[in-house]
Amino acid sequence: MRQFPPDFLWGVATSAYQIEGATRADGRGESIWDRFAATPGKIQDKSDGSVACEHYRRWPEDIELMRWMGLKSYRFSIAWPRILPDGRGRVNAPGVDFYSRLVDSLLGAGIEPFVTLYHWDLPQVLEDQGGWPARATGGAFVEYADVISRALGDRVKRWITHNEPWCISYLGYGNGEHAPGHKDWNKMLAAAHTLMVSHGNAVKVLRANVRDAEVGITLNLTPGEPASPSPEDADATRDFDGGFNRWFLEPLYGRGYPKDVIEDHVKAGRIASPHLDFIQPGDLETIATPTDFLGVNFYSRAVLRSNRIPEEKNAPRTVFVRPDKTDMDWEVCPASLTRLLVHLESEYQPGPIYITENGCAYSTAPSADGRVHDVQRVEYLRGHLQACSDAIGQGVKLAGYFAWSLLDNFEWAYGYTKRFGLVWVDYATQQRIPKDSAHLYRDVVAQNGLDVEQAA
Ligand code: FCB
Repeated sequence: MRQFPPDFLWGVATSAYQIEGATRADGRGESIWDRFAATPGKIQDKSDGSVACEHYRRWPEDIELMRWMGLKSYRFSIAWPRILPDGRGRVNAPGVDFYSRLVDSLLGAGIEPFVTLYHWDLPQVLEDQGGWPARATGGAFVEYADVISRALGDRVKRWITHNEPWCISYLGYGNGEHAPGHKDWNKMLAAAHTLMVSHGNAVKVLRANVRDAEVGITLNLTPGEPASPSPEDADATRDFDGGFNRWFLEPLYGRGYPKDVIEDHVKAGRIASPHLDFIQPGDLETIATPTDFLGVNFYSRAVLRSNRIPEEKNAPRTVFVRPDKTDMDWEVCPASLTRLLVHLESEYQPGPIYITENGCAYSTAPSADGRVHDVQRVEYLRGHLQACSDAIGQGVKLAGYFAWSLLDNFEWAYGYTKRFGLVWVDYATQQRIPKDSAHLYRDVVAQNGLDVEQAA
């Protein structure tokens, strides 16, 4: 048995737009994901989040599922457009009440709420005024953080400012795969900067409003590993790691933006000058405002191959080494989670780390016996929990683990084609069926440990 530390926080994670539905209910304003999903060609199965898992009405049933799993905590996000439909200013009371009731019921079930403020559903009106590349959006975010933390801060103690600034900035403003769908390097870097500065300012507001608050940010970290020992592959790995991981970690921990990445952007002609004119005096200090924990979302690693070698000029930059891949085409490699955590601990000493998301997409459907035998997810979960335990054994201060996700849900540009849930959702009837992985997770939580003998 691999035992976990006594107060280890076991949970699951979700996000508002992916599960709630009811996008027009009770005065909710439009978000960039409503607009994006309504734009032809953006979502693989032409779907949107208007119904999703109907969590907005079925939340008592979903809390029951979590109680059945014995969870200690639930990480969910607040839909900003439910709280401030105009982005700032007027507060929409029914929106606040929804989350207030959710929080009360969670606490009643002995489940601690772990709140994410921004999980991608920017009010559309703020996008119309420039979106994340505009500094004013950061100001609006801090206002929103103030409003919601005053409303819930007597009961919610753990707060995450932003979920995955890389995805928000790169996928939203760089390659356009996510809302709002822009493709512009300058916008992308400016968006990332507004996000990080607004994170720092929100940390201060949350601390002021919430007694005993624990505040942090969640980064999606994908460790890069070279495909070969060649200097070319080492450089491709540095480049990948720089844009994906260090661009956020370095300023967060007071080291400013990585110069090598800026040079690469200039050399590649993505930006005109190494002088990033969106940085104002004091910004880097704000970004480096001390936090109480680091949230890490981990799904996979990237194995990098240089395209500077002439014969590989047009080959893909990432290669797959191990045979097992999920429905997202993400390689399964639990050992790289251990390596990542050990690296974070030694390089940045971030304090407690929570795995705020980890999981896999497999479409395994119910069998004739009515159960969902998601063997691959069980394997994935076991492997990654063991990787967490290995990291703890090597001195990493890992304080909790949140499986992504409680339910199958709206997987952004993939619509409902990818299923990440521990619980199966029949979208026609909204019936929920805990998969075998949910049963395993329930056992793990009950034992506060992973039975490794069983794996052999
Ligand atoms: C993460 C997102 C989450 C979910 C998973 C699969 O990047 O935070 O909402 O889509 O990926």
